[in-house]
Amino acid sequence: MGLLKVILCDIIEAQVVNVGVIGCGHWGPNHIRIFSTLADSRVTWATDLSSERLEFIKTTYPQLSVSADYKDVLKDSRVHAIVIATSAATHYEIVKDCLESEKDVLCEKPLTCRVEESEELVDLAERKKKILMVGHTFLFNTGIQKLKDYVRDGTLGKVYYVYSRRVNLGPIRNDVNVIWDLASHDISIFHYLFGTLPIEVSAKGESFLQDGLEDVAFISLTYPDSVLANAHVSWLDPRKVREITIVGDKKMVIWDDLNPEDTIRLYERGVAQEPYYKDFGEFQLIPKEGDVTIPKLLLSEPLRNQDKHFIECVKRRVRPLSDGVFGSQVVQVLEAAQKSLRNNGEMVKIK
Ligand SMILES: NC(=O)c1ccc[n+]([C@@H]2O[C@H](COP(=O)([O-])OP(=O)(O)OC[C@H]3O[C@@H](n4cnc5c(N)ncnc54)[C@H](O)[C@@H]3O)[C@@H](O)[C@H]2O)c1
Repeated sequence: MGLLKVILCDIIEAQVVNVGVIGCGHWGPNHIRIFSTLADSRVTWATDLSSERLEFIKTTYPQLSVSADYKDVLKDSRVHAIVIATSAATHYEIVKDCLESEKDVLCEKPLTCRVEESEELVDLAERKKKILMVGHTFLFNTGIQKLKDYVRDGTLGKVYYVYSRRVNLGPIRNDVNVIWDLASHDISIFHYLFGTLPIEVSAKGESFLQDGLEDVAFISLTYPDSVLANAHVSWLDPRKVREITIVGDKKMVIWDDLNPEDTIRLYERGVAQEPYYKDFGEFQLIPKEGDVTIPKLLLSEPLRNQDKHFIECVKRRVRPLSDGVFGSQVVQVLEAAQKSLRNNGEMVKIK
C-alpha cells in the first residue's frame, strides 16, 4: 500500500498539465508565456474572438492550436486545465462551460460581476470536484506576503487602519468601471491580510471620461475590531502609484510596488503616552521616532508564482489560496461597493 502511494505520487509529480488559454488580449499572453515555460505545464490551445490576436499568438507560438471558439478547446480531452483571461462580463458563462466539461479552471479576476453567479460556480466546482482558482495575483506578490506576515505575527501590533492607492493615467477599460478593474486587487489584498469580510462598505466615485463607467473611486470599509480601510483607485491621475500603508499600535509599514529597492519600509514609529504627568493639564501624547527597516524580499514574478501554484493545486488536488470561495467573497465586497456608489456613498452592510 505504501509503495503504491509512493508510485502514485511519482506519477503525479511527473505529469505535465496541458493548458488551454481563453482570451489572448493584453493579459492572456502573459499566461501563455508562463505556462509554456513552467516545468510541469504546457500550453496546447489558445482561443480569442479576434483573428488578429490569434495571428499574433500563432506567430509567437506556432505549435499551439488556435480557435475563435473556446468550445473547441473544451472538446479536447487532452486538455486538463483552462485559463480564462477574457473581459469580466464573460467569465461566468465561460467558467461554467469549462467546469461542466470537466476542466480545472484558473479565471482572471474578478470571478464574475454578480455574487450569485460566483456562488453558483463555487457550488459547481465543488460538485464536479474541479479546481476553481481566481487570478488574484497580489496574493502571490512577495511584498504583500510580507505585509501578511507582519499582520499575522503581531509585528504591527493592533492594526488601526490601512489605505491603498492604485492610480495611474489609464489604461482605461470600457467593459467594467474602476472598482471592478482596479479595486478588485485592493479588496483581495485586504481580504488576504485580515482573513475576513468587512462589516460595511461605502464608495464614492465619478465618471469623468465615459458615461456610466466610473474612472475614479474612493472606497471605505470597516473590518472587525474597528479596523478602518480605504482604497483610492483611478485611471485618471498624473502619476502611477501602487502603495499600501498599514498603521498599527506598535509599528507602521508602507508597501510600494513600484520601488524595487525598498518595496517594504517598516517604521518603528508610534505615539506614546508621557509616563509621568501630575495632572490632566500635563497629559501628553508623544510621537516616538524609531528605526526604519527595509526587509530583503525574494524577487519573483507574482503571476509566475500564481500560475505555478495553480499547477501544483491541479496536480495535488488541493484547494488554491485564492479559490472560488475567496474570489466569490471579493465579488461580494465589490458588489456592495458598486451598490453604494450608485446610491451616492450610502453605507452598505455585508452579510
Ligand atoms: N491579475 C492582473 O494583474 C490582471 C491584469 C490585467 C488584466 N487582468 C484581467 O484579465 C482579464 C482580461 O484583461 P485584458 O486586459 O487582457 O483584456 P483585453 O480586453 O485586452 O483582452 C480580452 C480578450 O478576450 C477576448 N475574448 C472575449 N470574449 C471571448 C470569448 N468568448 N472567447 C475567446 N476570447 C474572448 C477578446 O477578444 C480580447 O482579446 C480581465 O478579467 C482583467 O481583469 C488581470
